[in-house]
Formats: sequence, C-alpha cells, structure tokens
Amino acid sequence: MLKKIADDLLKWYDHAARDLLWRQDKDPYKIWVSEIMLQQTRVEAVKPYYERWINRYPDAQTLADSSEEEVMRYWQGLGYYARARNLLRGVREVCSSYNGRVPDDKLAIQSIPGIGEYTAGAILSIAYDRAEPAVDGNVLRVFSRLYCISEEISQANVKKRIAELVRQAIPTERPGDFNQALMELGATVCTPRNPCCSDCPVIDFCVAFQKQRQADLPVKRQKTRAKAILLASVIIQQQDRYLLIRRPNQGLLAGMWEFPTVEIIEESAIESSLSEYLQRIAGVSFAMGEKMFDLTHLFSHRKWEISFYKGSVSINEKAQSLGETSKTAQYGWFYPAEWPQLCFAGPHQKAVHYLLSAKNNDS
Ligand code: ADE
Repeated sequence: MLKKIADDLLKWYDHAARDLLWRQDKDPYKIWVSEIMLQQTRVEAVKPYYERWINRYPDAQTLADSSEEEVMRYWQGLGYYARARNLLRGVREVCSSYNGRVPDDKLAIQSIPGIGEYTAGAILSIAYDRAEPAVDGNVLRVFSRLYCISEEISQANVKKRIAELVRQAIPTERPGDFNQALMELGATVCTPRNPCCSDCPVIDFCVAFQKQRQADLPVKRQKTRAKAILLASVIIQQQDRYLLIRRPNQGLLAGMWEFPTVEIIEESAIESSLSEYLQRIAGVSFAMGEKMFDLTHLFSHRKWEISFYKGSVSINEKAQSLGETSKTAQYGWFYPAEWPQLCFAGPHQKAVHYLLSAKNNDS
C-alpha cells in the first residue's frame, strides 16, 4: 500500500507540480535558501524574494562574503528575521568548515546554524536524493488525514510518529519529489479548510475521507490571540535629516532601524517617556508635536498599534548630535535619500513608504 501511495502521488506531482524557480536545479545551497524562505511564508510571497536573492547571492561564498546589514535588506519584508541571520551564519560555517559544500551527512548538516530536522530532511532529499522525511505543516496535515490521527498535532510524539510514517512511505527513487509532492498536495488539494478531496490522487488510502472526518483534522490547540502593544513613535527632522534609532541586537527585529519609539503605558505620559528615552539614547531634549498617522503591524504572537507624532529637539543639543553615523551606532541622523539603504523594522518600513510618498506628492 505504501508503494502505491508513493507511485500515485509522484504520478500526480508530475503533472500538478507548480513551476517554481527553486525546483529548476538541485543545488543544495539554493534548496537551503528556498526552504528557509518558505518556512512560515506563502509560496507567492517567496517567489520575488528568492529570485532577487539568487541574483545577488548565486552561491554560498557570495553570501558568506556579504555584510549582515545588506543581507537583512534583501530579506526585508519577509518577516521572521532570525531566519536570515541564521542562514548567513550557517552559510559562513559551510564556507569555513566544509569548503563551501553543504554536507550530505545528517548529523553534520543538522549541526549547522538554522538547519533543523525539517530543513535537513528537505535538503538531503531534494538535493542529495536521500530517503529522509521533511515534515512541515502541510505534511502533518496530509498524514493526520491519511491515517486519521486525532491527537493534537503540535505534540512532539505525534510529529515523531508522523515522521516515521513518512519515512516508511518514502521511495528510494525520487525522495525529494515525494517530499515536495506531499507539500504540494497539502498546499493545493489537502488544504486546511475545504480540502478538494475529489482532486486527491491518494483519496483511496485516506482514512479520514472514509470516515468523513477530513474537516476535523488535524486537531490543533486553541491559538492565543496576538497581544496588542500600544506604541508611540516620533518623526524628528533637523536640517533635512531625521533621527533614527537602531533596535537592540537581541530580540524582535534585532538590529533594525526605527523612528524613536516607546511603549505607551499611560496616554498622559507619552511625551515624558519619549523625552526620557531620547535623552538617554541620543542626549537630546525633546518636544512633542501633532499626531501624524497610526499603523498596525501583526506579528505571530503580538500586534503593534503605533501612533506616529511629529517632534523636535532643542537646537544646541541637536547641533552636537548631528554627526556622522557609524555602522555600529545606536542612533543617527539620516537624509530620506539614505533610507532605502537601511533595514527598517517592519511597521517603520510602512511609515517610510508613507513619508516618502507624502514627500513626492509635495514636490
Ligand atoms: N514549502 C516548503 N518547501 C516547499 C517546496 N520545496 N515547494 C513548495 N512549497 C514548499
């Protein structure tokens, strides 16, 4: 039965597979890049990023030799930025310790930063034809239905069981295509809601379909709602330059640039907390101006609701602080023409678009 599942799935994949750029060759570096981009991100969103990335960084050595600042810019907008940072670290390790060749040994590949069980399985099967499972959310859903598994799907023991079932089904010929066919089935037919069971090449083996349980599976634990965080940001202009602050090197949107921002604990304390913050970070005295616009930005576990204000800083102090900004500085004054070279933290990129288009409309 398992052989028949694999045969039917591969036959289906041969005509149903989407024509995706990363499927055009088996270069392990390119497979690695695509698989990292595709984590938590839709295929359609990844396509232009992948193309641009491969044009700029066609091989591991080119990426390894590039600065983190630039690499982050090429990732900007894809979200989950730790992925890009780890990819860069991982690729540098491949270049320094493995002569630029992604290892094909399971233990070695999994010791590389950013390569976990899923990515290792994807690279080994797609690039090196190894019969290794690559179990992502799509594959978990397909197998929970095929085998009618009604335990909560994110549990480690359930994932392990499914990986074992995939391992038994995986053919020694075309293991990479088999894994991608499962992902493709999950993405296009065996979808989370309203699966198209009539189009499914393995419907005859699907226990959930036989029991008409496909709509109930997989069982997921209730998601906690994203916590809303209220923030105030301030746009401070001085002689055509704007004050920007770099976020800490650890944590959410690490190392990215933003307009000075504080969390609003109490509405009446916005100006005083911005003043205290700007004094501490940039040594300037601050006065708040009018509100300009609001933005909302959704992360996986939190939601930022930001109000952007105008602001100014006092002449003497700001004159002192208008110096050259070094690459490692925690703050700096930048001309709008320099903004496209910077990597902005998510919602601040939206603010930049807004401000630049307002400027263009003015002129
Ligand atoms: N999602 C994760 N990996 C994928 C792949 N190789 N093709 C399509 N979707 C994917």
